[in-house]
Amino acid sequence: MKTIFSGIQPSGTITLGNYIGAMRQFVDLQNDYNCYFCVVDQHAITMPQDRLELRKNIKSLAAMYIAVGLDPEKVTLFIQSEVPAHAQAGWMLQCVSYIGELERMTQFKDKSSGKDGVSAGLLTYPPLMAADILLYQTDIVPVGEDQKQHLELTRDLAERFNRKYNDIFTIPEVRIPKTGARIMSLQDPLKKMSKSDANKKSFISMLDEPSQIVKKIKSAVTDSEGIVKYDKENKPGISNLMSIYSILTGKSLTEIEETYEGKGYGDFKGELAEIVAGHIKPIQDRYYELMDSEELDDILDLGAEKANFAAGKMVKKMETAMGLGRKRKKK
Ligand code: AQP
Repeated sequence: MKTIFSGIQPSGTITLGNYIGAMRQFVDLQNDYNCYFCVVDQHAITMPQDRLELRKNIKSLAAMYIAVGLDPEKVTLFIQSEVPAHAQAGWMLQCVSYIGELERMTQFKDKSSGKDGVSAGLLTYPPLMAADILLYQTDIVPVGEDQKQHLELTRDLAERFNRKYNDIFTIPEVRIPKTGARIMSLQDPLKKMSKSDANKKSFISMLDEPSQIVKKIKSAVTDSEGIVKYDKENKPGISNLMSIYSILTGKSLTEIEETYEGKGYGDFKGELAEIVAGHIKPIQDRYYELMDSEELDDILDLGAEKANFAAGKMVKKMETAMGLGRKRKKK
């Protein structure tokens, strides 16, 4: 059985973008693959975090993984910082990474541009992400489009390590959904929807109340034409909303255009808000049930145990390949 790894940062409550681009696909994949899903909290601290908020977000994200439909009997769900092999392997992979290639990462450039006191961790985040993936001999990594560049680097690092030290890593393939790989901000449809965006109106959180969803969708930036038509180049706002509609209902973009022919954006937005709220409601119900019970801690304890076992073996292999540590003299 092939192995899948994917991680999400607990840097805020996950958005509809994270759900559509990443989490939603995991539910189908769990039946056919050996799956590792991770709350990558060590990645979150590459940016400043409030410690109490972070604690809350870690559990909240773990609950969301289960609430969307992952079965803890089938998948290994765990928290990155509870498996020390990630940081150990991350360090070894930093030592095979070049500063130049890390500086070329778009996410690093976006998140560091114009800022003072950028953490070194923001630069060295990709080798840690590579470690997350390579520790489990991962075959496939399902992510949104924004992570494609980091995945290419992961493949380069794995190949470099295999060539230089020992051929121990599986080279992972990236899997990007055909639709919904990049859900855009509701306030600036040329920017991706992000959970850490300071403008709360720019994203729909998976924990938003129906009234908030209505408000956010109604105030989403569109254009003055008032025609529900998919045209990503010239009408990015309405096209983004149409993608969300299409993904959540299974209707094609042409069907949507036909449904709203002769109607304005008001009708379309009102119905989209109902669709989104209706889709999210059962997920939220299960989420609150989990947050109120001990079930989640039990799932995460078991997940950490399974992940520590698999990752611990791999980190030993890496250390041996690089010549770290010592071997006891045979008597
Ligand atoms: N807008 C998006 N559309 C589709 N997929 C997306 N993903 C993120 N944003 C979108 C996918 O969600 C997964 C988890 O991402 P992450 O939390 O590890 O980091 P990120 O990509 O940096 O996500 P955010 O929401 O933008 O977080 P912040 O604001 O903290 O940087 C990934 O598979 C990603 O592709």
